[in-house]
Amino acid sequence: MALLNILCYPDPRLHTVAKPVTVFDDKLRALVADMIETMYEAQGVGLAATQINVHQRLVVMDTSEERDQPIVLINPEITWASEARVKGEEGCLSVPGIYDGVERAVAVKVKAADEHGQVREIEGEGLLAVCIQHELDHLMGKVFVEYLSPLKRNRIKTKLLKAQREDA
Ligand code: NI
Repeated sequence: MALLNILCYPDPRLHTVAKPVTVFDDKLRALVADMIETMYEAQGVGLAATQINVHQRLVVMDTSEERDQPIVLINPEITWASEARVKGEEGCLSVPGIYDGVERAVAVKVKAADEHGQVREIEGEGLLAVCIQHELDHLMGKVFVEYLSPLKRNRIKTKLLKAQREDA
């Protein structure tokens, strides 16, 4: 297994729209295993393939306390979203150190394949519902800071670009 490099906002590659996965083979399963390892190492609750510069409809997440219940969503589609919405604090492995409020549906149902191509429907609420919506946005090339005001977004861009320059 290997740790993967996570793209950092405002990297333009984060705005790539992912394509459906068509082949469920050992190569895909190795990628899924690497993504799960990378997510745990980075202490994230979710990671979309977009964030590691692989533009396929694939996300991994784990919202359990014990961090031992990974969920793999391949070619995910939201089939239902509650009318009830709530604003909660979000962060993202691609936007390190930034947390801000985003309004999301309280509960959603998502239909997706696992790494063996088995399709099932998962219902999530609370953190899992937020995570599903946040990760599926990544596959559409959308980062959560795009829900914030242009002023806030520009401040975040400037701050992260500065941090990246200092790291380089
Ligand atoms: Ni994210």
